[in-house]
Amino acid sequence: GKTIVITGVSSGIGADTARLLRSQGAQVIGIDRNDPMLTLDGFVKADLSEQAAIDAAIRQLPERVDALCNIAGVPGTAPADAVARVNYLGVRHLALQLAERMPAGGSIVNIASILGAEWPARLDVHKALAETPSFEAGLAWLARQPVAQATCYQYFKEALIVWTITQSQKLFLSKGVRMNCVAPGPVFTPILGDFVQMLGQERVQKDAHRMKRPAFSDEVAPVVAFLCSDASRWVSGINLPVDGGLASTYL
Ligand code: NAI
Repeated sequence: GKTIVITGVSSGIGADTARLLRSQGAQVIGIDRNDPMLTLDGFVKADLSEQAAIDAAIRQLPERVDALCNIAGVPGTAPADAVARVNYLGVRHLALQLAERMPAGGSIVNIASILGAEWPARLDVHKALAETPSFEAGLAWLARQPVAQATCYQYFKEALIVWTITQSQKLFLSKGVRMNCVAPGPVFTPILGDFVQMLGQERVQKDAHRMKRPAFSDEVAPVVAFLCSDASRWVSGINLPVDGGLASTYL
């Protein structure tokens, strides 16, 4: 089976993705700041907001990794600096480092959000940020162009989608490694309440009403697993919404 690294493995979407991939025969190595409450084939406890901690975690991973699911994330109720580090800079760093350990056919899946759907409106800014060559360079760029707390979650999900799409071309052509985003709508996990705080009860209820209910995390996990699998071997550089059709109801 494949060796698959999953961040955010200790809760929500990450935990369900780990369960599913293990049931399909993969060896799953989890990374999280909290201990997992499920059986894994390996686990590294790490705070993904610090580059040094990410590098230390990487040193504990197997020499060969077939796929990476970047699922760890914090809501916009966390400080903007933490959102930048965990939801964007850390994801980028881990993806580029682990791509080096992947054979051709490797796959990286980054969890974005439908709240990142406005990326075309700020494409130039996100492309400029995507050009920053490292975690530290990204931090320095952001220090010059600070991101508002109120919209930092959306901003860094947009940035992640743009980075994934642009970077995927290079990875696929040079190494045969694919990289894609999955963009969930509201999902029943512990951070759903933070989205109510971020966006207001009215917006979240309106979205939930449009699609009748939030998703369950085991409705997102199979899509992530598909993008890790060889069945998706000609799918690269896309952002795949998993929102029960919510985006279409805004047309
Ligand atoms: P969750 O809170 O259940 O799981 C997130 C996991 O990431 C937790 O286990 C947490 O410990 C870990 N994590 C957070 N910060 C970390 C850090 N600094 N270092 C190491 N681990 C860290 O949330 P959920 O819903 O499963 O979220 C997974 C991803 O899905 C996130 O990227 C989130 O932004 C995204 N998402 C969630 C939606 C929802 O409605 N729940 C909607 C759209 C996207």
